[in-house]
Amino acid sequence: MSSINWFPGHMHKARKEIAEIMPQVDVIIEVLDARIPYSSENHMIPALRGDKPCIKLLNKADLADPVLTEQWIAELEKTQGISALPVSQKHPEQIRQLLPLCHTLATGKGSTLHEVRALIMGIPNVGKSTLINTLAGRVIAKTGNEAGVTKSQQKIRLDGGVLLTDTPGFLWPRLSPPECGYRLAATGAIKDTVFDYVDVALFVAEYLLKAYPDALRTRYQLQALPETDLELLEAIGRQRGSMRKGGGVELQKVGALLVTELRAGLLGPITLETPEMTQAEEIHAKAADEAKAKAKEEEKLMRRQRARKNR
Ligand code: G4P
Repeated sequence: MSSINWFPGHMHKARKEIAEIMPQVDVIIEVLDARIPYSSENHMIPALRGDKPCIKLLNKADLADPVLTEQWIAELEKTQGISALPVSQKHPEQIRQLLPLCHTLATGKGSTLHEVRALIMGIPNVGKSTLINTLAGRVIAKTGNEAGVTKSQQKIRLDGGVLLTDTPGFLWPRLSPPECGYRLAATGAIKDTVFDYVDVALFVAEYLLKAYPDALRTRYQLQALPETDLELLEAIGRQRGSMRKGGGVELQKVGALLVTELRAGLLGPITLETPEMTQAEEIHAKAADEAKAKAKEEEKLMRRQRARKNR
């Protein structure tokens, strides 16, 4: 997962273009995937946002665990200027709440704005285009949110006095901590061609065993749950008849099955990360990065000392 190339040229371009638009923006709308509110964030937004109000939309809330969605909303709203709202295509009326909220946040108390300028952002596949279509009441052509696709920004005039700018360029997801990559793959935010299903399925299996044992029991009709991720995949494989000719479970097939069924919501509403988990992972990743940088520095020092001795 760590070898994915996120097209640094596109990242630079997106950052530049967003920084240029920012002075003409009253409110930022960041679309997140409610199943992975942390992993689906783009980490450059806080720096670009400054003190502009920001609405974090937890989209695809129909697929997420409602208890954890509540936790995430409380967590996200701890940051000054941020409002969080769960939304889903299943409830277009929730999505339309966004328009009055833009006015409330942009104008603060007392004053009114004839038209609020909102900038909408989101990593690929969080459902940004579908959401824009619902808000506009018609199909709007996609802007270039795929690597290699470059289209200019577009402005969409919405009912309720909101002028929406759809961000150009490619917004990349979090690259670190490494768990984010697995979760992005599990939800379909990363294309299937760049990861191995077995890897991602093992990651998912380990998490589900801890966090959603009942969902696993019900979906795969398992009387007793196995203890490990691999044993779980094997048990599902036996249950679904994904067996090799010579015996043994076809892991690739079971892996794809588990991930596909999870994405489609067939295991019930599931969220793949909690605020506590991601905070711990962030601390861990930071410590690992620091240790790596220290080791590199020490190695450099030793090389210099050796070179001095050999002179
Ligand atoms: P993007 O612009 O952010 O890249 O995402 P896009 O709107 O293209 O949506 C990506 C996928 O997510 C689509 O499914 C879309 O139907 C689905 N989606 C969007 N919003 C929601 C939601 O609130 N709930 C659920 N469950 N799914 C949602 P797809 O399989 O890629 O395409 P399609 O089969 O719908 O055509």
